Amino acid sequence: MQSSENGLIGAEGVPVDEKDAYAANYKAHRKGISYDKVIKTYDEWADNYDKDLCPGVYNGPEILAKAVGEQYVGEEKQEVRILDVAAGTGRVGEELQKLGFRRIDALEPSERMLEILRQRGLYENDWHDSIGFHQTQIKDGTYDCVVSAGGMGEGHMPISALDEMIRVLKTGGLMIIVMREEYLSYVNEYVDKLEPHLKELEALKKCKKVSRTVVPNYSFNKNGIVFVYQAL
Ligand SMILES: C[S@@+](CC[C@H](N)C(=O)[O-])C[C@H]1O[C@@H](n2cnc3c(N)ncnc32)[C@H](O)[C@@H]1O
Repeated sequence: MQSSENGLIGAEGVPVDEKDAYAANYKAHRKGISYDKVIKTYDEWADNYDKDLCPGVYNGPEILAKAVGEQYVGEEKQEVRILDVAAGTGRVGEELQKLGFRRIDALEPSERMLEILRQRGLYENDWHDSIGFHQTQIKDGTYDCVVSAGGMGEGHMPISALDEMIRVLKTGGLMIIVMREEYLSYVNEYVDKLEPHLKELEALKKCKKVSRTVVPNYSFNKNGIVFVYQAL
C-alpha cells in the first residue's frame, strides 16, 4: 500500500516549500480520477501550471530534452521531426528549442493548455487530441522521434499510447518518455503492465529497448525514469 499524507498519495518526503504545488498537481492525479476529469483539471489549472510546476519543482521537460539531445548531433537537430505527446503548455518544446531542435509538433487534449502552448510559438503543428484511446489522424511513420514528459499518471495516458507512439514513428525512430518512477508501483494502469507491455512490443518486433535510466529529482525531489525505445 502506497503511503499518503492528508490523503495525498506520495506526498510524504515532498519538500515543505513544494507542498502546495504537490497538492495542485495531485488534483490532476488523484486516485481513481477519470481521463475526462484529468483534462477538465488541466483546463482549470493551465494558467497556473507553469508557476506551480516551475523548473526545480518539476524537471521533466529539461530531463527529456537532455535525453533527446544525447541522441542527435549537430545540424541533424534542425531536421529531426519530433512529436511532443501530452505537450501541455509547451515546456518540452522550449527546452528542445534551446538545444537546437526546430521541427517540433505537439499533441495535447486540454484546450487551455494548448492555447498557452500556441502562444509560445515554438511548435510547427499541433494536434488537439489525446493518445491511447483511439488511433490519431497522424499517418504511420511520420516522425523521427516521439517524446513525452509527464504524460503518464493516474487517468492520463493508458499503456496503449505506447503502441500509437510507435505507429507514428519512422522505422529506426526513437520513442523517449520520462515519467515519475513511483507511478510504476501504484498507478494501476502501469503496475506490472507498462514494462511487460514494452516487452510484448519488443517480442512483436515493433521496437527494441535502447535504455532505461532512473534519474534523480524529476519532480518534487522524486526519481524519474527515462525510457528510450527504437521503432523497428
Ligand atoms: C503533467 S502535464 C505535462 C505537460 C508537459 N509535457 C510538461 O512536461 O510540462 C500532463 C499533460 O498530459 C496531458 N494528457 C493527459 N492524458 C493524456 C492522453 N491520454 N493523451 C495525451 N495527453 C494527455 C494533459 O492534458 C497534460 O497537459
